[in-house]
Amino acid sequence: MSATATLWWDAENESIHYIEQTLLPNEYSLVECRSIERLATAIRRLEIRGAPALGVAGAYGVALSAFLSEKKDLKSFTAAVHRDADILRSTRPTAINLAWGIDRVLASMASAHDCNDARSCAIAKAHEIAREDTACCHAIGKHGAALLPDTCTVLTHCNAGALACSSWGTALGVIRSAVNEGKKVKVISCETRPLMQGARLTAWELARDGIDVTTITDSTAAHLMRKGTIDAVVVGADRITSDAVFNKIGTYMHAVCAHHHKIPFYVAAPLSTFDANNYEKDVIIEERGREEVTIMGNRTYVPDEAHVKNYAFDATPMELVSAVITETGVLRPPIEIHKLLSHRNTT
Ligand code: MRU
Repeated sequence: MSATATLWWDAENESIHYIEQTLLPNEYSLVECRSIERLATAIRRLEIRGAPALGVAGAYGVALSAFLSEKKDLKSFTAAVHRDADILRSTRPTAINLAWGIDRVLASMASAHDCNDARSCAIAKAHEIAREDTACCHAIGKHGAALLPDTCTVLTHCNAGALACSSWGTALGVIRSAVNEGKKVKVISCETRPLMQGARLTAWELARDGIDVTTITDSTAAHLMRKGTIDAVVVGADRITSDAVFNKIGTYMHAVCAHHHKIPFYVAAPLSTFDANNYEKDVIIEERGREEVTIMGNRTYVPDEAHVKNYAFDATPMELVSAVITETGVLRPPIEIHKLLSHRNTT
């Protein structure tokens, strides 16, 4: 089953390559990125997106900065890399993986004895983070597949697939692993207004792998749950605090409906998505531009006089979550995040 890398380092050209996700499914296009400004724009525009992929992009971004920064002396070199890291960190506030990837690479450079050594440490750590992410997705897939019946229909929201990670995916990793094990899984992919990651990306990935996928409008989900069509909901996460799961706007709505219809609601995410230092009230939910809501194609659908609210994410209270599937196993809430993170790789 395919699950191509979403972004990778080109050692020869000292650059980052990635799949330009805003163009999918109409155009499969690879971009080569050689500047921090371009990478920051790519993250802001969602050319690269999805929490684990942002972690990997942040990590390779710091490595790219180390290759671009002038090697005058270690102090000014390090200061330049930290400035670039701050630019990248500020691009998207909700997915915790971005800052986590950046900080791990910065930490790896802290004991370097010269600029060349700092570069080597940075790129080695970025590669390690990318490799780890793929391994986490496969482990999540294995643990999650065990939760699914042999024949089932799974609803997912947004894209928590290979495109949102190094490869394989978290929520879609669970589905891929289940299908690999011989389970008969049908997927209902919510389109995910306004940027349509479910319709454009999830349906594209699964169809490419020959997995049965049906796209619905977001508002069709409750109807299908009521009809008894959905056996489980599996989504990804951008951040998990002890009291809430942050994921793409609309996730909370599915969790409420799933709870009402007694359908298990699973969250698939690596430990890098957990936040032991904050509660729901502390987390910034990204708000994006009105044009994402008001314009479709060449047409404007909302009068200029109307206000628009465009939250990119929402918070699902932990009591609506049946389980969180991580690389270390299946966790049933309440989850003691501090204890859990003693397993997490922070170096
Ligand atoms: O705004 P996006 O497309 O970056 O949002 C992505 C999501 O909400 C995903 O569900 C989440 O990052 C989990 S990805 C494994």
